Parts: sequence; C-alpha cells; structure tokens
Amino acid sequence: MATTVHIGEPLSRIDGIAKVTGAARYAAEHPADGLLHGFAVSGAIAKGRIAAIDGSAALAVPGVVEVVTHLNRPHVAWLDRSYQDDAGPPGSPLRPLYDDKIHFSGQPVALVVAESPEIARYAASLVAVDYESEPHNTDFDAGLADRREPRGSGAEDRGEAEGALESAPVRIDGDYRLAREYHNPIEMHASTAILEDGGRLTVYDKNQGSQNVQAYLASVFNLADGEVRVLNPFVGGAFGSGLRPHYQVYLAVLAARMLGRSVRVVMTRQQMFTHTHRPECLECVSLAADENGRLSAMMIDATTATSRLESYSESIVKWGATAYACENAKLDYAIAELDTATPGDMRAPGAATGMNLFEIAMDELAYAAGIDPLELRLVNYSDRDPLRDAPYTSKALMSAYTQGAARFGWDRRSPVPRSMREGRELVGWGVATGMWVAMMVEASARATFGSDGRLEIASATSDIGTGTYTIMAQIAADTLGLPVERVTVKLGDSRLPTAPIEGGSCTAASVGAAVQLACRSLAGKLHGLASAMAGSPLGSTALDGVEFADGSVRVKGDPSRAVAYDDILRASGQPSIAAEETARPGRSRRNGKSQYSHSAVFAEVRVDEELGVVRVPRIVCAAAAGRIINPKTAGSQLAGGIVMGLGMALQEETLTDHRIGRIMNHNLAEYHVPVNADVQEIEVIFVDEPDPEVSPLGVKGVGELGIVGTAAAIANAIFHATGKRIRELPITIDKLLG
Ligand code: MOS
Repeated sequence: MATTVHIGEPLSRIDGIAKVTGAARYAAEHPADGLLHGFAVSGAIAKGRIAAIDGSAALAVPGVVEVVTHLNRPHVAWLDRSYQDDAGPPGSPLRPLYDDKIHFSGQPVALVVAESPEIARYAASLVAVDYESEPHNTDFDAGLADRREPRGSGAEDRGEAEGALESAPVRIDGDYRLAREYHNPIEMHASTAILEDGGRLTVYDKNQGSQNVQAYLASVFNLADGEVRVLNPFVGGAFGSGLRPHYQVYLAVLAARMLGRSVRVVMTRQQMFTHTHRPECLECVSLAADENGRLSAMMIDATTATSRLESYSESIVKWGATAYACENAKLDYAIAELDTATPGDMRAPGAATGMNLFEIAMDELAYAAGIDPLELRLVNYSDRDPLRDAPYTSKALMSAYTQGAARFGWDRRSPVPRSMREGRELVGWGVATGMWVAMMVEASARATFGSDGRLEIASATSDIGTGTYTIMAQIAADTLGLPVERVTVKLGDSRLPTAPIEGGSCTAASVGAAVQLACRSLAGKLHGLASAMAGSPLGSTALDGVEFADGSVRVKGDPSRAVAYDDILRASGQPSIAAEETARPGRSRRNGKSQYSHSAVFAEVRVDEELGVVRVPRIVCAAAAGRIINPKTAGSQLAGGIVMGLGMALQEETLTDHRIGRIMNHNLAEYHVPVNADVQEIEVIFVDEPDPEVSPLGVKGVGELGIVGTAAAIANAIFHATGKRIRELPITIDKLLG
C-alpha cells in the first residue's frame, strides 16, 4: 500500500471547519470569570498636552469600575526606561497613559473599565479632557521640507548615473506617489487579560507572534517569564499590523493588575486608524535607456513618512536596481517626520511601495523607447543580483514571464494606447514585475507521538490566515508517513517551542523546516525503539535502511517487515515519544547568494471614460516562489495579495483633515478596500522553481509577493486603455476625469 503524499496537494485548511462554525475563538472571544471591559478614550488633538482630565461623570455611571488616566495609573517598570520590541524601529515607542503629552490624534488618553463593553463605551464619551494644543504637521507634502536620512537605505550606488542620464537617447522622469494605507484586518486588535489564581496572567491577544508580545509584557511590567503567557491560536488577518504589540494589550494588562480582575480591551474600527500603517511615499524616478530599451541609468530618490516618536524606514529604493541589469544607479532615501502614530510594516513593506511605483516608471520607459512593456523587462533581465553582484539561489522569473504572457494572451495586445475598446469601455492591458525576499530564520518545533495514535506538532508560530496549521500538518504527515488526519497542530502559544513572528513570508520556510527536522528526529527515536523490541521484524536494519510509511517503521523494499508506531509506543512503556529540534538557515546564508521570489503580473482593465470607473476583469500572476507545499493555501495567499494590490491601485487612501490632524475616513465605509464585486478573475500560476538553498524544504514563501507588481500592472493597463498616465496611487475617479 502506498502512503499518501500530502506536500504539493491542495489540501483544504485543517482549521477551516473550526473557523466557519465559530468554534475557533479569537482574542476578544475568550471567556473569563468576572471579566471587566476596558474602552480606550482616543485623544482629540494632534499635538500638545492634556491640561486637565476629569473622569468623574464616567465613574458615576452604574457599572463603571475605574477610569484610568496618566494621573492615577499605577507605576510600572516601563515608565523608568524605554522598551524596544523586536519588530519596532529605533526610537521611543508610545507609552500609553504615561504622561500628559499628546503625540498624535487618536492617542489613548484614558481607559474606562466597566462591567460591560456597552457601559464602558458609553462612559468613555463622558470623560472630559481639556487640551493645550501645539502646532502640528500631519501633511506629508509639508513634511518633505525637512526630510532626513535614515540609518542605511539598504542599497548602494553603482556607476555614474547622472552622466549616463544626460547622454541617453531615451529618458523618462517622473514623481510617483502612494497614499497612506491602513492594514484593516477584519479582526480588530483585541486583548483578553485573564488573571489566574496566584496572579499569573494568561493573555489572549491578536498579534503575529505570541512570544514577541509575551517578551514585551514581561519586560514592561517586570514579570518573570512564568508569570505571563500570551496566546494567539486564531488570528483574523493582520497584514503586518500584528507584528508589534499595540496599546490595547498594554492597557488590558495594566488594568487587570491594577484592579485585580480579568480585563478585555477591544479597539473599535476607528481606533484601528490610531496606530501602525503603511507610510505615504514620494518616489522620484529617472530612467535612461538606449534605442533598444536597454537600461543605462536609473536614479531613484524616495521619501516615506515616519512619526516623531520613532524612525520607521523601509527598503523602498533598492527594488528597481535589484530587478534589472543597469550599470549606473543612484539611490537615495529619506524619511519625513509627521505628528502621527508610527508607521510600520504592511504586506511586503518597502517592495509594495517601491517596486510598484518603479514598475510604473518602467512602463513609461517602454512607451518612450517604443517597445513592448514585456519586451522591455526581458531586454533588461538579469541572471545575477545587480545590486550585490551575486548569484541567486534560484530565479525562474523568465518562465513566469513566458507562462504568464501565454496564459494572458499578451501577444494579442494592440500596442497603441486607446486602441482597444469594447462598447463604451476602453480596454487596457498592463504588465509588471513583482519581487519579494525569500527568508529562512531560526525556528523550533516539537513532534510528539501519543497513545491516542496521533502525532502532535507544536511550535509558537502563528497562523494569521495564511494556512500555517495546514502546511505544518502536511509536512509532518509526509515526514513520518502518516495520513494528515492523524496529525494535530498546536501553535499560537508563547509556551510552545520558539518560533519567529509570522512576518516577512518566512514561516513556511522556517517553521516548516523545524517541523520536518523534529519529525525526522522523532523518526530516529521510533526506529531505535522498534529495533530494540524483542524479535523486532526490523532485525538490525540501520536507520538508512528503513522508511517511515503507513504509520510504521519498515524495511525498505520489504514492507512486510514493519512495526507500527502504536506498537512501538506500547512496547516502550512510555506515555508518548517526543522530539524537539531547531532549524537554522542553511547554505545560502553562508555562500552569499541572493534570495528572492519573483512574479510576472498581467492585468486587464476596462475604463468607462465618461464616468471614470475602472473595472479589473482579469489578472494573471505567474509566480516563481520555490516549492509550493499547498497550491490551495499558497494560491490564496497570492490571490489575497493581488486583491490588496488592486486596492492599492484603485482605492486605498487615508484622508486627513490637516487643520486638526485627524483622519476623516477612519471606517470601512469611507476607507475603500476591494469587495467581492470589485474582484473578478484572478489566476495564479506557480512556475516550477526548485531551490534547495533558501530552506531545506525548498520553500521561499508566498504571503507578500502577490501585492508587489499588481498595483503597477493595473496602473499600466489604465494608461494603455486611456492614454492618461496617473502617477499617484490610488487612481481614483477624480484623477481619471481630471
Ligand atoms: Mo508582514 S508586513 O511581514 O506581516
């Protein structure tokens, strides 16, 4: 009997039924005895100080237990020193309710704690605050005036770009912009801080790394590791917003310790606009080429916004110089401080901004040179990383261009803008390249075979909707030759074996490798125990002479000589057999190769010229992303990124009233993201790309790649349809009609 192979199969999510039936509990859904509910009061000014704050009217509401402000909050360890969380930029993170200073609009100024969420929310409206305002600036354009260099832009100049630009026969220059974006996962940031007997804390928190938040809480409240445990078994999307702890978890724990009761704090949708976000960007690009479209020089000068509290920066300018062969490149990057909350990583941070804007410039160059936009990318293809002058571990982007173009029907494209039309709509086809880093980082996992005949996999990693549960089960099942139904996956708990924050598309490669290693180690133990059994059918067959299949250890080539895991466990007299291992980045780190995933994105748009309405009937994305563990979950990751790219191209935009420094569209009615009606055909193709070097599994990661290139492909298709070059994303109706 052949053992089923799971890796490479489009297995449905093993946690899917729990999610759709409501059995999966999210951070705000965990019950606790005597639970109190905290509601954060959001400050009304953008900068200044709290002159007076009066919670008496709120306290008078029946059911209100406490109003916590900077005046009565308990002293905690953090107030004497700063704390730098793993995922935070350099600077001083906001310390909620620390003092009277206001750094940005929406900053929490009080926490009202009550017996029900409704009472807390109502009473919060009664907290009276007098402010002393100071001049603020939330306007990125005004902030550009005093931009400054961050520490390292992640890219070095090469050649003599300025001279090459002057003498080039083909040249384009453009200023490209991206609006500020918010992550807006469906699950708001929430924390349930449960006070256990003896004062220990169990905190269910929405985040991308339970151990990162655990370390934060232990540090800022000066707790021993055993005194606080953080869990995030289910996460309703995050896109990077859960990489850092946010103020609701601090406030929930602060109040729980202060009041001696369990406390839950849930952000409102509006409060989801009071913390991390993708910063505004201005990217000035000059490109030069010869008559055949061969790039001779590029100059990229970008600025993104940060807060005054912390210096958040991204790798914005390196992408074009990494994507294409070009001898001369000048790359500059700076940040501009605004009186806002600190920006942070949002799906493909840096690349989503820098590469999408650069790829619009490439499209302009194609028209300037009079060559097909896809041809331009082929002409400038590089087999080596031009930025580091290093080879890639793998780069099957050429196959992605070829297969994507064939699937899309690119050869039927009429090159001239405004030359394709159907009914009252102009039709446009655009293309762009996508890239993201392929990373493996150190991670640990434990594999345990138990008396119930099941294999349990445990790691502190997260599943933020990506499919982590499922692919870990697939990897484990194949490594030990078990049907996937016999594998249980435990994750999202700071007490489990150490794993990185789920970010940077590194989880499959990193935790997947740890799971494989732990299962191999367990296999070795099972072999040892089976061999030691009296009259073992394995005889003295060494480890390399056996295989692990059908729930048993058996001699290769002679499946009749087998011992079932259940029998091994029984004979051992132990309650379970376990192995824990740590996987570390392998060869490619040492040999200096560059590690990227790539994609070729093709988009069709239909533009109603009279109304300015853009539809995107189809997108084809061909991805070269290493080995795919599960084409269904991986395909969904790509498609999800593509939908987000569609939002970036056409919809997502934060609008601030700069007079008061407050975001006006802080809700999902006015901050537009694509809905089902906006999303039509999306086709993802995975091209074959063996890569034994990025990770032992051959995996590169897919969570972020989909957004990169998509926004540009749509913007480029809009130019092809209309002849209008819009250099500011999102391309909204007003810009098209203007
Ligand atoms: Mo991603 S922005 O690394 O969660």
